[in-house]
Amino acid sequence: MTDIKKGLAGVVVDYTAVSKVNPETNSLLYRGYPVQELAATQPFEAVAYLLWNGELPTEVELARLRATERSYRVLPADVRAGIDLVPLDAHPMDEVRTALSLIGARDLAGSGSVLDASGSAAENLSRSIRLFSVLPAIVAYGQRRRRGQQPVAPRDDLDYAANFLWMTFGEEADPVVVDAFNRSMILYAEHSFNASTFTARVIASTLSDLYSAVVGAVGALKGPLHGGANEAVLHIFDEIGAAENVVPWLDAALAEKRKIMGFGHRVYKRGDSRVPTMKAALDTLVAHYDRPDVLALYETLESEFVSRKGIYPNLDYPSGPAYNLMGFDTLTFTPLFVAARIVGWTAHVIEQLGANALIRPLSEYNGPDERHIEGYVPDDAVL
Ligand code: CMC
Repeated sequence: MTDIKKGLAGVVVDYTAVSKVNPETNSLLYRGYPVQELAATQPFEAVAYLLWNGELPTEVELARLRATERSYRVLPADVRAGIDLVPLDAHPMDEVRTALSLIGARDLAGSGSVLDASGSAAENLSRSIRLFSVLPAIVAYGQRRRRGQQPVAPRDDLDYAANFLWMTFGEEADPVVVDAFNRSMILYAEHSFNASTFTARVIASTLSDLYSAVVGAVGALKGPLHGGANEAVLHIFDEIGAAENVVPWLDAALAEKRKIMGFGHRVYKRGDSRVPTMKAALDTLVAHYDRPDVLALYETLESEFVSRKGIYPNLDYPSGPAYNLMGFDTLTFTPLFVAARIVGWTAHVIEQLGANALIRPLSEYNGPDERHIEGYVPDDAVL
């Protein structure tokens, strides 16, 4: 019997120097740095630089990246027109996927044959920075369009996180909110060979282009077993309503064998290393917005579910209510994940192309035995 690893669980498929997930010590390192240290001390732009280049930027390098980021913040008019073709009631992840595909088509127009598609490392780094820079405009435009609001132009005097919130809400965010948002972007930026990153690496391994890899990754991230879980957590919170409803709600949900979104992880079985940092950010938001009811629901559901099933929260559990408190629409949560994870995806595409091997696993056939079309006479039998 072939030993099939369903879902590739436990299979190590390649090396990576981008990040290290260690479920034993409950730690996550980006290029060697613990993610909680980065979240507490760095702006997201510096962490993006680290993930792409392997080292934190000097002041000059950070200033240069920030200048480039500012220069690509505006959504090109034709991409905006393309987004407008996406139905308003389509899922925003479909809108993001379409926008990134259009940006790729624009950028690669006239670039020749597929043989040149994968591009050099330098070209791919500058494409990565461009996507990282324009994604806030795509996400902010999407939320405003669904709310019937006009787009808001970026502000050159604001750094990435503050400008993202400005373009979404049209007002300057409180530093407490900017800090919590910046931390969430850092925590979401990278997580080794998760489903969407692996998708990006599979696509890159065929020597396709970086944009195609990223568009495929968006599709993988949309699912509720992956990035879609942060949105799903809020749907659950809305269903439960308040802390006192948790026990009857959970009794019914478990009796129906429902999966409780925001809990469980393929790699971490004793708690997700990113949760304490995001929970601390959620605590600051709860205090800032004076919403102890949110905390009560969060903590009651967590303790009830953990004590009954021994399954711990993942990053999507605290980030869902955090984004809700900040004012994002529930449907915007997974696009926010895209804006962060674009850094990890692109760092992995560049790494994959640096030591490429086509990713092409095998399968064990379990369909019907060989059979034949009645009356078919093979060509060589006619002669
Ligand atoms: N609610 C209820 N039961 C669960 C949950 C959950 N959230 N997670 C795992 N289980 C149970 C599952 O039903 C199974 O039970 P049994 O052995 O009796 O059939 C057992 O635990 C093992 O679960 P699994 O789904 O086989 O484990 P996995 O490693 O394949 O799945 C997971 C990991 C993330 C897909 C799963 O925990 C899940 O579906 N969680 C809810 C969705 C979610 O929060 N996803 C976000 C993941 S982390 C952030 C990200 O990557 O985006």
